[in-house]
Amino acid sequence: MIIFDKVTKKYGNSIAAEGISFKVDTGEFIFLVGASGAGKTTILKLINREILPTHGAVFVDDWEVDKLPKSKLPFLRRKVGFIFQDFKLLQDRTVAENIAVSLEILGRGNSDIDGRIREVLKIIQLPDKSQYFPKQLSLGEQQRVAIGRAVAGETEIILADEPTGNLDPKTSWDILKIINDINKQGKTVIMASHNVDIVDSMKKRVIEMNKGKIVRDQKKSKYS
Ligand SMILES: Nc1ncnc2c1ncn2[C@@H]1O[C@H](COP(=O)(O)OP(=O)(O)O)[C@@H](O)[C@H]1O
Ligand SMILES: [Mg+2]
Repeated sequence: MIIFDKVTKKYGNSIAAEGISFKVDTGEFIFLVGASGAGKTTILKLINREILPTHGAVFVDDWEVDKLPKSKLPFLRRKVGFIFQDFKLLQDRTVAENIAVSLEILGRGNSDIDGRIREVLKIIQLPDKSQYFPKQLSLGEQQRVAIGRAVAGETEIILADEPTGNLDPKTSWDILKIINDINKQGKTVIMASHNVDIVDSMKKRVIEMNKGKIVRDQKKSKYS
C-alpha cells in the first residue's frame, strides 16, 4: 500500500507537487497523466525516496518513507523498482549482468542468481539474448531488460516513468503487455504516460495532474 498524505514538494520557490493525497492498494495499476511539468516524475521519486517531501508524509506499507532511517533505505529500494523512459542500462554489462545487479545487492548466491535470470528472461520474453550488450539491442529490447532489472529482486511496486516514451506504437504495446502481466502477478504498478491509446484501452485508474495538483482521480478511466 502507498499513501500520500497532504504532500507538498517545493524546489526553492517553485512548487512541483502541492497538497497531494491519494492511496494505492497493493496490486493496483494506475496511470499518472498530465502535461510535462505537471509533477508526475516528482510523485514517483517521492515514493522511492529519491526526493523528500517539503510537507506531508509518504507511506509505503508500514514505512513512513521520509522518516525511514538510512539503514532501512535498501529495503525500500528492493521493494520498489523504477523503469525510465531512457532505460538507464549499464552499457558495459550484458543483459544477464544488468539483471544480475538487482540480485547481487540481495546477497544471493551465483546459482540462485543464474536461475532467477533465466526466469526473468522469460518474463521479459528475451530468452536468447542474455549475452548481448545494450547497444546490440533494439530500443524495445532495451526497455525489456530495464523491466527485467526492475522486477528481478523482491520488487512489489513498479514505478514506470513514461516507459514507452521513446518507442513506436507496436513496441509500446509489447512493453505495456509485459508490465500488465507483471501487475497480474500481484505487483503494484504506477505508470506515468502520455500514450493516449494505451491509457484509453487499458481502462485503469487514472490520476491526472496539473501544475502540481491532482485534478482527477478516477477508476476505469481514460487519458482525458
Ligand atoms: N530538481 C529540480 N529542481 C528544480 N525544479 C524541478 C526539479 N525537478 C522538477 N522540477 C520542477 O517541478 C515541476 C514538476 O516536474 P516533474 O515532476 O518532472 O513533472 P513531469 O514529470 O510531470 O513532467 C516542474 O516545474 C519542474 O521544472
Ligand atoms: Mg516526468
